[in-house]
Amino acid sequence: MPPAMDVEIRRCTSAEEVREAITPIGYYFGHSAPRKDQAERLTRVLPAQRVYAAWEGGRAVGGLGAFPFQLTVPGGRLPAAGVTVAGVLPTHRRRGVLRAMMRALLDACYQQGEPVAYLWATEDTIYGRFGFGLASFTAAIDLARERSAFHAPFADPGRVQLVSLAAAEEFVAEIYEKVAVETPGMFARSSAWWQARTLADPESRRGSGGDLQCAVLENDGRPVAYALYRMNSAFEQGLQTGVVAVIEAMGDSPEATRAVWRYLLDIDWLARVKARLLPLDHPLLLLLAEPRRLGFSLRDGLWVRLLDVEAAMSARSYQAQGYVVIKVTDEFCPWNAGCWRVGSDRVERTDKAPGLQCDISALGSVYLGGFTWTQLARALRVKELVSGTVAQADAIFQARSAPWCPEIF
Ligand SMILES: CC(C)(COP(=O)(O)OP(=O)(O)OC[C@H]1O[C@@H](n2cnc3c(N)ncnc32)[C@H](O)[C@@H]1OP(=O)(O)O)[C@@H](O)C(=O)NCCC(=O)NCCS
Repeated sequence: MPPAMDVEIRRCTSAEEVREAITPIGYYFGHSAPRKDQAERLTRVLPAQRVYAAWEGGRAVGGLGAFPFQLTVPGGRLPAAGVTVAGVLPTHRRRGVLRAMMRALLDACYQQGEPVAYLWATEDTIYGRFGFGLASFTAAIDLARERSAFHAPFADPGRVQLVSLAAAEEFVAEIYEKVAVETPGMFARSSAWWQARTLADPESRRGSGGDLQCAVLENDGRPVAYALYRMNSAFEQGLQTGVVAVIEAMGDSPEATRAVWRYLLDIDWLARVKARLLPLDHPLLLLLAEPRRLGFSLRDGLWVRLLDVEAAMSARSYQAQGYVVIKVTDEFCPWNAGCWRVGSDRVERTDKAPGLQCDISALGSVYLGGFTWTQLARALRVKELVSGTVAQADAIFQARSAPWCPEIF
């Protein structure tokens, strides 16, 4: 159904309009109007022309935007639209407002040469219809501190220092970038992003938690790992029940990663260590003597949408020689429909007979390496037209690590 006649979909032209455009999503977080500081921080990283709104009588009843990211994919990086702030007021829901904004946004991203769009979904029923496929898992842990011993004795993390948030960027940005450039699903962070998002610690983000802390591990005077976390202390009958809530922790080598986690797991006073937004293949699973104690729990992570099959597929690397021919259907972006030859040497349209047939969302699922073609076939999301092609496609698409995006945008 098209949006009501009196609703106009138009991109924003000013920070003030962006503030209007995020009012609908803010409504679902319980706010009648966006907090001034939140809007100000957002507009530092989300240009007005990247935000669409559904306007009715000068007021935004819906909003949808896309951060201009450089996304890491297996073997490379490419421009990608990080879709965000999707919201339609309950007074205007189910009239096609989201659909109309998505049309405008994805068309613009495609025309601007962004071959991929991706997002975090609040509900997993919303985005499949627009061609997004589930592309990664994200994990959470909740570990009792006294059960956190590593399988091999390791006690001393080395020299760790607490760094103020004002000074943190110069210690942590390089470590992040080293990890991000090798990890599918992570994007390059600008200085504005560090300041307005990652290292910002406004009251509204703390909930009942403590201040955002930054610990930096050094090796030979060089920062090699960092952790951002909050100390959420609590006591019951004199016993500690508090939690170290890890926001983000990573190192530029397996040793550095192990050491920064040992530091976090050994902080006195708090009973448990909790973290979320971890990758499926997080090293803690094999570092701990009792991995079951992690309470490692999974849920859906990123959703990926290929806007330009040729450009997106050409931007990633492939593991094996040879190629597969995939027949793709794409209702929302019909320019992608047809047969594609995907191989390590080149990706191109072809009139060769296809070995696989699937919807565009299936390509989104395998793109970052979070799912295999075999998994798609078992779920009847890909049809094998020529026997053996699923296995061949898995050999070609194989990725070295699970996708990871350590933050919700
Ligand atoms: C999700 C939301 C943006 C949808 O907006 P909307 O304008 O009602 O969506 P549309 O009318 O354009 O719906 C398009 C299609 O998606 C379906 N759809 C929309 N939201 C859905 C949901 N939450 N669950 C299942 N289906 C949904 C509609 O039924 C419609 O289906 P159709 O194309 O088969 O007719 C809106 O309900 C909302 O703001 N929800 C709360 C905030 C939120 O979850 N935002 C997403 C953040 S990631």
